[in-house]
Amino acid sequence: MSVPAPIRWENGRLLLLDQRRLPGRVVFEEPKDVESVVRAIRQLRVRGAPAIGVAAAYAMAMAWRNGEDLRQAAAALRQARPTAVNLGWAVDRMLAALSRDMDLIDEARAVHEEDRAMCEAIGRHGAPLIEPGGRVLTHCNAGALAVSHLGTATAPMYLAHDAGIRFHVYVDETRPVLQGSRLTSWELTQAGIDHTLICDSAAAHLMADGAIDLIIVGADRVTANGDTVNKIGTRALAITADYHGVPFYVACPSSTLDPATATGSDVEIEERPAAEVTGGIPAVAGVKVRNPAFDVTPAELVTAYVTELGILEDIGDCLRRKSVSEP
Ligand code: MRU
Repeated sequence: MSVPAPIRWENGRLLLLDQRRLPGRVVFEEPKDVESVVRAIRQLRVRGAPAIGVAAAYAMAMAWRNGEDLRQAAAALRQARPTAVNLGWAVDRMLAALSRDMDLIDEARAVHEEDRAMCEAIGRHGAPLIEPGGRVLTHCNAGALAVSHLGTATAPMYLAHDAGIRFHVYVDETRPVLQGSRLTSWELTQAGIDHTLICDSAAAHLMADGAIDLIIVGADRVTANGDTVNKIGTRALAITADYHGVPFYVACPSSTLDPATATGSDVEIEERPAAEVTGGIPAVAGVKVRNPAFDVTPAELVTAYVTELGILEDIGDCLRRKSVSEP
């Protein structure tokens, strides 16, 4: 069994799975204009870097079909969440298609389809990293709900599982909105993949105990030098992994690479509402809160990047290979 696809385009209608309600309720909503898609992205109803790129591509296609101003639509979508590069990448791709007089609905479908294919390739390259009896740790949700089909960090897990490899996954709950416990854990349950949920703060203890063989996380953006921007807590995980000698892999499609940005410190980190941290607990009302949604893992802490082009130690390799394979 698998989880429902988070984004569907059916008979000219865009359907988004409301991920705030998961896993308790499976509800699809139908945004009818760009503003509603922007709201869905901001409120994490659709989330995960590649998924918000796909949603933005369909939003641009809807705007085009409705005869709306596409420059304005592009600006609104870009602003929805600042950190994941896939959002701007998808918007730029749709504007490029517009300038070539292409059908934007076909182009949005192509973005979605390519996303699926990239996840499969990431899975094929990454599955051999998981050995029989292996113990893998992951953070946040970089699974099918964040992308298409197999996800990125989870793609090697799905394919290793299909190949009959028995292994175990430790899932960080991922404070503050629990994408690990609500989403990744649900996905792995549906797929029948053996896993254990842990508090984010338990990861170091498990590594010290020798209970983790490797870590695989997703990414919202990988800058030209290989710095990786991902869900808050990833950096602490990478530093801890380095200390304990645990290999740390970043799984990402090339649409997550941002060669135009030199380093992670040049990336805008989204600050989210305080209520996500306080959870409405009355005792902390009025307390000052910081809620950065992402952090930067320095390139030197990344063992390798699992991309659709292979497992690469140097992200520059991926950019070079991609520029050779693209017309
Ligand atoms: O705030 P979110 O839930 O959108 O954060 C998601 C992540 O950080 C994922 O790891 C990342 O987007 C990669 S998804 C394949």
